[in-house]
Amino acid sequence: MTPPEPADVTRVTCVGAGVIGGGWAAHFLARGYDVTAWDPDPEAESKLRRLVDAAWPALVQLGLAEGASRDRLTVAPTLEGACAEAQFVQESAPEQLDLKRDLLARLDAATPPGVVIASSTSGYPMTDMQTEAADPSRLLVGHPFNPPYLIPLVEVVGGERTDPDAVAWAARFYDTTGKSVITMDRELPGFIANRLQEALWREALHMVANGEATVREIDDSITEGPGLRWAFMGPCLTFALAGGEGGMAHMLDHFGPSLKAPWTRLEAPELDRKLYDGMVTGCAEAAAGRSSADLVAERDQGVIDVLRATGRLPGQPVPGRGGAPS
Ligand SMILES: NC(=O)c1ccc[n+]([C@@H]2O[C@H](COP(=O)([O-])OP(=O)(O)OC[C@H]3O[C@@H](n4cnc5c(N)ncnc54)[C@H](O)[C@@H]3O)[C@@H](O)[C@H]2O)c1
Repeated sequence: MTPPEPADVTRVTCVGAGVIGGGWAAHFLARGYDVTAWDPDPEAESKLRRLVDAAWPALVQLGLAEGASRDRLTVAPTLEGACAEAQFVQESAPEQLDLKRDLLARLDAATPPGVVIASSTSGYPMTDMQTEAADPSRLLVGHPFNPPYLIPLVEVVGGERTDPDAVAWAARFYDTTGKSVITMDRELPGFIANRLQEALWREALHMVANGEATVREIDDSITEGPGLRWAFMGPCLTFALAGGEGGMAHMLDHFGPSLKAPWTRLEAPELDRKLYDGMVTGCAEAAAGRSSADLVAERDQGVIDVLRATGRLPGQPVPGRGGAPS
């Protein structure tokens, strides 16, 4: 059986209804789907409904899809019952490899043929998780960020035995539900965003462990510094602007030698011609026709917008803490 067209899906099953499974349920409900959840914890249903209730005002602010309702959430008493009529399954059970292997095999047995089953795993490659399933071809990773009902990114990647059509289907489906999808063409532990977060995190831990910086200084260095730009412009384009009108090429000529300096414990790659050219053409692609001046204007406006939205413009009253009426 082939899965329905992504745009024709009306029923989604969420297995594991904790922080992430509950967040996915809230996302799909807000986008107008019927959501069936299953979780072995007897307290799960009340926790899930509390999570959805807490998320709902934010989702209303974002704008609900037509027909979206919390009443369209059902909690099934069994895994088999939850999956019997699923048109898409999102697994968000605890991050334990054996548990994921067994669970994905059970989900595969309980779900109609051809229906795609995605795992929210934070780092296991699907190749390692799909070992027990009778039909591993429809199992893939759909890695979200917390909370899945607000953060758009989902990283989609299959395992060695995943059908590339299932990966393409999942990417289109998530896109239909309003997610921002990155489809990876190979498995990489931690995917993309967690590798980047982890590099920062490990360096932060090193600095605290060595007394080089306090927790407060580390957090402030991001929220008062580069974090303001990263909300709307990625680290590569941001650095391209550090090269002025010469862009990434000038940035690499100027700061390339710093790669040899001990600015981080993470070893730097060799800045050979291939990497140099890859960064320069990658930035040109990411700029998508915008000139350096366009990007500078966009960055400056973005920083102002973020500062304003978070009550940090000079003289701006802090929202929720009184201040002059406007
Ligand atoms: N928390 C995050 O920020 C985050 C972000 C992205 C991805 N993830 C991934 O999402 C998954 C879930 O993480 P979480 O943070 O929601 O954990 P959680 O502990 O909040 O929720 C896990 C839920 O799974 C249920 N569960 C236990 N055994 C189960 C089983 N055999 N079958 C189905 N459900 C079972 C638990 O009762 C619980 O409700 C993990 O794979 C995690 O790596 C987490």
